[in-house]
Amino acid sequence: MLSSLFTIASLATAIAAASNYISGPPPVSYGLLLFPTFEQLDVNGPLEALYLLSLQFPMNLAIIAETLDPVSSKPLPVNNTFNSNVSQSVVPTNSFADVPPIEVLLIPGGFGAEVPEASETTIAFIRDIFPSLKYLITVCTGAGLAARAGVLDGRNATTNKAEWAKTIALGPKTNWIPHARWVVDGNVWTTSGVSAGTDGVLAFIEEQYGAEAATRVANTMEWVRITNSSDDPFAGLYGL
Ligand SMILES: *[C@@H]1O[C@H](CO)[C@@H](O)[C@H](O)[C@H]1NC(C)=O
Ligand SMILES: *[C@@H]1O[C@H](CO)[C@@H](O)[C@H](O)[C@H]1NC(C)=O
Ligand SMILES: *[C@@H]1O[C@H](CO)[C@@H](O)[C@H](O)[C@H]1NC(C)=O
Ligand SMILES: *[C@@H]1O[C@H](CO)[C@@H](O)[C@H](O)[C@H]1NC(C)=O
Repeated sequence: MLSSLFTIASLATAIAAASNYISGPPPVSYGLLLFPTFEQLDVNGPLEALYLLSLQFPMNLAIIAETLDPVSSKPLPVNNTFNSNVSQSVVPTNSFADVPPIEVLLIPGGFGAEVPEASETTIAFIRDIFPSLKYLITVCTGAGLAARAGVLDGRNATTNKAEWAKTIALGPKTNWIPHARWVVDGNVWTTSGVSAGTDGVLAFIEEQYGAEAATRVANTMEWVRITNSSDDPFAGLYGL
């Protein structure tokens, strides 16, 4: 009796584990798209989770930008009244012209994602690479770049609630979901603003690598998770 219970339990564990790998083994190759005036936490929250995950699974990351020049998060002059320099430059590993095969592309947001004239090459890059990806994850107003690339057409998606009207206008063929910490539609994950990217990526980790891996990452980074994708305190705050 006891041993058959164990058998059932381990079968259930095996099925649960297998269900995480429905579309093959979990991703190994990640790409992070950078552009000037990216939002710090859109990048560094998800990267922190992936960084810790990479201690549990073999993984690699390409930091991709238009050129190999350092990419700064320095705010746009229009917002930077005091010309403050509380910002950071990141050195890309790959330019648009030389991107290794990647399975998951992460697109952060930030004020730089909202500048129409600055991002045409970035949008073309997203459009071109999308068909080769296994998964796309956008954070915050990064969804606006994906929308402009057409890859959110006909899909459900969400974005930053503080920048809602402006961003959803970029994707008239997208079903924008206002009350969402993150939204999954097929292989496209979109998250709400800034810190929501970390909850979205932790949910992605849970789906792809299992709940134990996600919990271990969240506990190591002492992240107080929102695990319910509809739990969105900011939709109401911004009147959506
Ligand atoms: C930054 O400037 C743009 C353009 O004026 C404006 O739409 C946006 O709300 C500003 N953002 C902040 C946080 O001040
Ligand atoms: C940042 O601003 C301070 C004060 O204006 C200045 O002294 C410093 O050189 C600046 N640093 C950079 C990297 O621009
Ligand atoms: C998209 O959202 C609608 C609700 O707006 C829902 O009924 C539908 O199932 C969602 N589609 C996917 C693929 O999640
Ligand atoms: C998730 O959050 C939504 C919105 O607050 C709520 O209606 C729903 O009951 C929650 N689901 C669970 C499983 O707690």
